[in-house]
Amino acid sequence: MGNLLQGKKILVMGAANKRSIAWGCAQAMIDQGAKLIFTYQNERLKKSLHKLVDDEDVLVQCDVSQDESIKTAFETVEQRFGKIDGIVHAIAYAPKESLGGDIMDATRSDYSIAQDISAYSLIAVAKYGKEILNNPASIVTLTYFGSERAVPNYNVMGVAKASLEASVRYLARDMAKYGVRVNAISAGAVKTLAVTGVKGHTELLSMSEERTVDGHSVTTMEIGGACAFLMSNLATGVVGDTIYVDKGVHLI
Ligand SMILES: NC(=O)c1ccc[n+]([C@@H]2O[C@H](COP(=O)([O-])OP(=O)(O)OC[C@H]3O[C@@H](n4cnc5c(N)ncnc54)[C@H](O)[C@@H]3O)[C@@H](O)[C@H]2O)c1
Repeated sequence: MGNLLQGKKILVMGAANKRSIAWGCAQAMIDQGAKLIFTYQNERLKKSLHKLVDDEDVLVQCDVSQDESIKTAFETVEQRFGKIDGIVHAIAYAPKESLGGDIMDATRSDYSIAQDISAYSLIAVAKYGKEILNNPASIVTLTYFGSERAVPNYNVMGVAKASLEASVRYLARDMAKYGVRVNAISAGAVKTLAVTGVKGHTELLSMSEERTVDGHSVTTMEIGGACAFLMSNLATGVVGDTIYVDKGVHLI
């Protein structure tokens, strides 16, 4: 327990269940004194999130494929809680058929969906988010090494993550005038709902674990620790960066 985030209100987007990276981020930020608000994609995921979070008031529906949904969600957050100090964007999606085989087999539509939900959504979140964020504030998103290397089966998602990381840099420049820092965490592979959509994810997870410096995969709590840091006033000099939290997998 610490007090790095004492007095800060942070919106967490993308907690589907207790395995979610967003949930690890939430735990680490609660441990540092933050007050959290959560968005969920749809009613099915609300049920799952409600099992982890008692207080219905802090749960707000938001589907990032619709601008209107993001706008309404953020207005609801502001009505209920006033201005907030940070947003965690832990959201990605691509149709399952496009997460396996050759990238040439992905359709134009699969490619667009991956870009829309996994990369553009961060820009939309920043656009509407600046209306409800304090100055200073922080936005953190989650990316993966498949943006830099051709990871088996990751395909359109790897391309979307490359877009996401570039979006972080442009957003960091343009959100600075609102006092908002934007950064990404490049997390090591962990078994979550999203990963099970990737063909051969068991091999992906074990390959990743073998390449860690100590043979143990990073935990969502460890990823959350970096998220808490980026949300805190200790990180005011960290802007537009992608920080690896993968136990060294990207080195080896
Ligand atoms: N699991 C890993 O190995 C790993 C590694 C690096 C980065 N990441 C990234 O971490 C982030 C969180 O994923 P996760 O692994 O915790 O999986 P997860 O399945 O727990 O979370 C993904 C979330 O995205 C949400 N989502 C998808 N489409 C949405 C939409 N249209 N509107 C709103 N929400 C939507 C889902 O509801 C879910 O909550 C993703 O960006 C993922 O790419 C994951």
